Amino acid sequence: MSIDAKISDPTIRSLYERKSVRVFTGAHIPEDDVRIIAEAAAQAPTAGNQQLYTILRITDPEKKHRLSISCDNQPFIEEADLVLVFCADCLRWYRAYEEAGIEPRKPGEGDLMLAVSDALIAAQNAVVAAQALGIGSCYIGDIMENAEVQREILGLPSYVFPAAMLVFGYPTEQQKDRPKPKRLDLDYVLQENIYHEHTGEELRKMFEDRTGKKTYDDWMRAFYERKYNSDFAREMTRSVRKFLEDFQQHRPLHMGKWVMQMKI
Ligand SMILES: Cc1cc2nc3c(=O)[nH]c(=O)nc-3n(C[C@H](O)[C@H](O)[C@H](O)COP(=O)(O)O)c2cc1C
Repeated sequence: MSIDAKISDPTIRSLYERKSVRVFTGAHIPEDDVRIIAEAAAQAPTAGNQQLYTILRITDPEKKHRLSISCDNQPFIEEADLVLVFCADCLRWYRAYEEAGIEPRKPGEGDLMLAVSDALIAAQNAVVAAQALGIGSCYIGDIMENAEVQREILGLPSYVFPAAMLVFGYPTEQQKDRPKPKRLDLDYVLQENIYHEHTGEELRKMFEDRTGKKTYDDWMRAFYERKYNSDFAREMTRSVRKFLEDFQQHRPLHMGKWVMQMKI
């Protein structure tokens, strides 16, 4: 089948057509559709069929408001009709092992990475299902920032990490018409067998159609400051480190109560 023929397939078409939606009509998403979105998420592939995630649906307006501030001041978060936080959850199985009388090892970096993979794959299923129902969505990566605040808002215990937040709602006409941001040429992201590190010349060519009237250097410097070197990016690293430290330093007491390990 040619690529063009495949694009006529409704599933593949929806993957091409999906774009982030940040302005919503305000129309209410029926409960049945919320259920389909959550169930579609739960149908995603999951490591060892463990479903190493918990999906938190945020319905409390106060919490939505606080999240719109704690996630880098993005007001459209609280305007979204449906807000789901996909938490990588290493606690559920830990507690299940304990329940069986096992003294489980503490979850480590590998367990966390697996749980984050599970959570994100489930989240993307929710995005695709919502799109099929005419509902737009946007990821909010900033949920990984401000560990202490998010923990308090969401009541997250140790071994539970908020990997992604998704906000959903019906797109306004302006959002439907907005062009989808272009992707890099596939040849730059699809490689064969062995990793190829791009040369300076290739990098300049890769971003050619993004820089507009600016030179590569000027455009790249501005992008670097706005994204990679921004306060929010630095906060994200601090915050994720905090979550990781917590993985390393805490141990369970009993019935979900956790305590800092004494340092001798
Ligand atoms: C992990 C992740 C985190 C993101 N975080 C945000 C965010 O905090 N705020 C936002 O407006 N968009 C966020 N986005 C959406 C991206 O900006 C968007 O996917 C990208 O610009 C490509 O545009 P498209 O989704 O319309 O194709 C995030 C996307 C991903 C995958």
